Amino acid sequence: MSTPAHLVHEQLRTWVDDMATLCAPDQIHWCDGSQAEYDKLCQEMVDSGTFIRLSDEHRPGSFLARSDPSDVARVEDRTFIACRNPIDAGPTNNWAEPTEMRTTLRSLFDGAMRGRTMYVIPFSMGPIGSDIAQIGVEITDSPYVVVNMALMTRMGNDVLDALGADGTFIPCLHSVGMPLEPGQSDVAWPCDPETKYIVHFTDDRSIWSYGSGYGGNALLGKKCLALRIASTMGRDEGWLAEHMLIMGVTEPDGTKSYVAAAFPSQCGKTNFSMVDPPPAMKEKGWEITTVGDDIAWIKQGPDGSLRAINPEAGYFGVAPGTSLETNPAAVETIRTNTIFTNVALTDDGDVWWEGMDGEPPAHAIDWRGNDWTPASETKAAHPNARFTVAAQQNPVIDPAWDDPAGVPIDAFVFGGRRSGTMPLVVQSFNWAFGVYMAATMGSETTAAAFGEQGVVRRDPYAMLPFAGYHMGDYFNHWLAFGRTLANPPRIFAVNWFRRDEDGNFTWPGFSENVRVLEWIVKRSHGRAIGIESPLGWMPRYGDLDWSGIDGFGEDDFRECMSIDRDEWNAELLQHEELFIRLHDRLPGEFPAMRTLLASSLWRADEHWEMNPDPT
Ligand code: OXD
Ligand code: MN
Repeated sequence: MSTPAHLVHEQLRTWVDDMATLCAPDQIHWCDGSQAEYDKLCQEMVDSGTFIRLSDEHRPGSFLARSDPSDVARVEDRTFIACRNPIDAGPTNNWAEPTEMRTTLRSLFDGAMRGRTMYVIPFSMGPIGSDIAQIGVEITDSPYVVVNMALMTRMGNDVLDALGADGTFIPCLHSVGMPLEPGQSDVAWPCDPETKYIVHFTDDRSIWSYGSGYGGNALLGKKCLALRIASTMGRDEGWLAEHMLIMGVTEPDGTKSYVAAAFPSQCGKTNFSMVDPPPAMKEKGWEITTVGDDIAWIKQGPDGSLRAINPEAGYFGVAPGTSLETNPAAVETIRTNTIFTNVALTDDGDVWWEGMDGEPPAHAIDWRGNDWTPASETKAAHPNARFTVAAQQNPVIDPAWDDPAGVPIDAFVFGGRRSGTMPLVVQSFNWAFGVYMAATMGSETTAAAFGEQGVVRRDPYAMLPFAGYHMGDYFNHWLAFGRTLANPPRIFAVNWFRRDEDGNFTWPGFSENVRVLEWIVKRSHGRAIGIESPLGWMPRYGDLDWSGIDGFGEDDFRECMSIDRDEWNAELLQHEELFIRLHDRLPGEFPAMRTLLASSLWRADEHWEMNPDPT
């Protein structure tokens, strides 16, 4: 399609013309966002070998793509923040000098789309017209990116209309980095196996991504715009762009709360955002609904409450491990109209991955396109295999998920994967301590077994790979933001992953997490008891609803909640390591809070356990 007749935005027209001159595509297609366009591109990818159409009986309207084996995940070491002052990027980001980086990228993009179609995707992050939403325009030479963006964002003509003649948009340029010479045939998954750049120009707010067709490297609305660029906008404009799911919690009497929760990648965020309450709680009327599974944009509303939107319109979830036990709502969500990437293909045209319900298939084609049987030594699905699906297919979608005004946030939850140290749940004493807790959160990188603790990677706010600026400034921004709130949401830390001496999880997790959530929402409305511990407020055994739980008693609960002084002394030393790293921009409050924690732990018993429940 040539330039749409209704394109009245001169700056957009000029940018697209300039990029077309640079990238030299064979043709330009402006995406209108229609179903016909989606269907046509999917069929073209089936014809070209990028997509395999799955069985109409098992997965209607669904496709499988297999990526190049070198292009399977986000590439953090090729991800850059290009801003004038290197200090602003901070020590946890790769910094690039913007002018030099632009020169490097211009030479890579020069002719990069030869032999291909250049697609122009106008997209909105957030409900179109919401004053928390932002508009982006992605130029890409990948039809795979177009159809994924069609599921993950609101895209097409409606966005151009919202942009009008002079609306602001964030330009996002993407190429797989494999131009086709005349006569050269294409491959199923074009990419540049050697050269990759994911670059964020945070001063002028634009994104250039070269060489990868996968996930967050290529679907530029997600991590690039909605987190790295948006976090710098939030810093400058006084709002928050966070790596958080948003869920609705409805109590039996109808009271509705919204909780925003941050967990590092691979800690079950999508599962938690759709969690199925335990049967006994469901019977009483507890209900969980999803607003978002990965990202939250949060602004102070006119009434002083915090309003959050999910900037995305779909899920890009990790497939392996998704099952009726771990996430029944996701299993239902991806029954139809889903794009699968790097999962296995069964002989009857369905998909399969490790951790799926039922027996493994006797034979399948693995994610590399090779024969696979249960006797194979390799995995059938890549561990980072994904499903892409529109949010409205989620059977437990929250009725307000698409509300331009956002939903009011009552509590923030932070969690990592820790085999020890962190209790099941604790409420911070106040906003500042909550910021400290979130800033020092960590996750274990190696699988811990038999009571061993793995290597803890500090992942402040689960934002380490996603903050577009200095982490120390980010903490200061959170502290300053809290000072503007009359009634700030309460802040909680959780740990679903604690293990006993034999390496077994002490907490059953999944559905049972809703028992903890009940205490969290009630606490945030001042309706539940909290006992003071050295780290914050904690529930006693009797403060949680245990109806219908099997094989988990008071002793187990006390084990999940205990605080070990030696472990905490080691933990505080590690906080200090993080602080030294961020020294030049660290909030002055942090060393003081660390000292306060050391002091209250010193006072506590060596192994702190709350008194047995008096009731
Ligand atoms: C994701 C991630 O894909 O956090 O959401 O890596
Ligand atoms: Mn994520």
